[in-house]
Amino acid sequence: MRISDSLAARLKELGVELRQGISLTEHTSLGIGGSTDELLLRRYDTIPEVMRLLAGANVPHKFLGGGTNVLIADGELPWVMLHLPSSNPAVRIEGNIAFVEASADLGGMVTFCAKNNLGGMEGLIGVPGSVGGALRMNAGAYGTQIGSYVREVELYRAATGQLEKLQGNDIRFDYRHTSFAPDDVMLRVKLELPSKPFKEILAGIKVCNEKRRGSQPLNQKSAGCIFKNPPGGSAGRMIDELKLKGHRVGDAMVSDRHANFFVNTANASCSDMLKLIDDVRERVRTAYGIVLENEVIVWRN
Ligand code: EPU
Repeated sequence: MRISDSLAARLKELGVELRQGISLTEHTSLGIGGSTDELLLRRYDTIPEVMRLLAGANVPHKFLGGGTNVLIADGELPWVMLHLPSSNPAVRIEGNIAFVEASADLGGMVTFCAKNNLGGMEGLIGVPGSVGGALRMNAGAYGTQIGSYVREVELYRAATGQLEKLQGNDIRFDYRHTSFAPDDVMLRVKLELPSKPFKEILAGIKVCNEKRRGSQPLNQKSAGCIFKNPPGGSAGRMIDELKLKGHRVGDAMVSDRHANFFVNTANASCSDMLKLIDDVRERVRTAYGIVLENEVIVWRN
């Protein structure tokens, strides 16, 4: 979708930068996705006005964080992409509190806090993506989930059209799910973290990194795990037991390293990946009677 010149001029007055015709293959870890215009929102205070302008001009939009957990449709996309560019500094520390921009890189934030002797998030170190994306999904790994440390979130609420602050106690963080509305936009978060010496945190980080390197296809294009684990079960183990490692549709393939990672081996399309996802879901349903739910977020056109 293309932004008209007149709308672009109005948006520019609000500090919004327009990037025309970007390709989402270059902005997602899967390397899949069509093209559209992108708006970089540098000033949070203008977001409500930007949203009103887009709604007034009938321009649909979606927010892209780190692009590491999305599968995006092919071709010309019928929406514009909104993105919060990273700001510097992305993290500020006061005692045991870290004030973090949602656009910050998750791993970078964990490392920055570690250097300030604040730990607890060692398990999250290798999870790719932005802090905002991690918050929305309640990202987790190796027994850690980000939600445990959240004390306050500043966000744009599409439901009210306002910037708001939510207290940690008022947000539900479940397994890869939160009580945020789908169109809430994460802006900043306040985390309360336990004090820990840097060396100790580093040792924990090393253990997680080694485990991850040993079991996940880190050097291939993927969106991490494709399916959520069913209660008490393991999607990866079931897919592996069905001997589906290496199973492919076009260039979309079930990783031969971890069966719940689906990788783009060269130029997979979104439709290849969706066919593979549906095929594997159906095979698991037939064999185990369990319908796997997507963990990856799918944006179809
Ligand atoms: N397994 C297999 N074959 C495989 C993959 C796994 O038999 O191909 C078995 C393992 O041997 C193990 C069990 O399945 O007994 C669980 O595997 P693993 O420890 O790799 O964890 P997982 O449940 O598959 C979850 C998260 C990962 C996270 C790891 C580590 C989900 C959907 N996945 O994977 O998160 O990194 O634990 O904590 O919850 C993600 O969210 O994208 C993600 C990668």
